[in-house]
Amino acid sequence: MKLLASLAVAAAAISGSVGSPVDATDASILGGTPSSAGNHGGFYYSWWTDNAAQATYTNLDGGTYSLQWSGNNGNLVGGKGWNPGVSGRVLNYNGTYQPNGNSYLAVYGWTRNALIEYYVVESYGTYDPSSAAQRKGTVTCNGANYDILSTWRYNQPSIDGTKTFEQFWSVRNPKKAYGGAISGSVDTRCHFDAWSRVGMRLGSQHNYQIVATEGYGSSGSARLTVS
Ligand SMILES: *[C@@H]1O[C@H](CO)[C@@H](O)[C@H](O)[C@H]1NC(C)=O
Repeated sequence: MKLLASLAVAAAAISGSVGSPVDATDASILGGTPSSAGNHGGFYYSWWTDNAAQATYTNLDGGTYSLQWSGNNGNLVGGKGWNPGVSGRVLNYNGTYQPNGNSYLAVYGWTRNALIEYYVVESYGTYDPSSAAQRKGTVTCNGANYDILSTWRYNQPSIDGTKTFEQFWSVRNPKKAYGGAISGSVDTRCHFDAWSRVGMRLGSQHNYQIVATEGYGSSGSARLTVS
């Protein structure tokens, strides 16, 4: 994912050097806040955008972040949490989430060996991510029902560049209502154990594990605190 982002930055820098009147470092022509990741406020954060939307991601104090996006174009995902992820963590979140179109509010992470992208979706906008994936079962975690699904992604952006890999999903059913205050807790062990029981095994090496807001061809806003 970072590879794609840096290519876009390089392309903008080249066009700027041949006499563009626009400052090539102006975030507005690159789709807003450039992709980055690291530590902030005692948490790990990851922010990735393909630069096709106008998006502003802001790290705030402690476990809080905010995101506004618009343009009904492109793909972006960001949030705060931990790196590496673990099976035994309960991720708590509270704040506001207001998608307009296709968007997820999810615990989101990656493993290597095998390379897996995973989601525990707490709420989503107009598109139910479980509609395109293969349903493997259901699980009850923290008193809520989730559908378990998996799907393959072919030649898509990943933490290791463009790869083919599996996505694992738990999708809360019914989803949490959005628009006003939203809060919840995700016990990763409950989901990971349920995935394992239906043959969905995460890789041995955990990468980041965050409470993410994702937008896809949409607009919206979120301000969330992770603890
Ligand atoms: C989120 O929870 C924390 C800790 O309980 C609290 O201090 C904070 O005010 C809450 N934030 C929102 C937006 O409700």
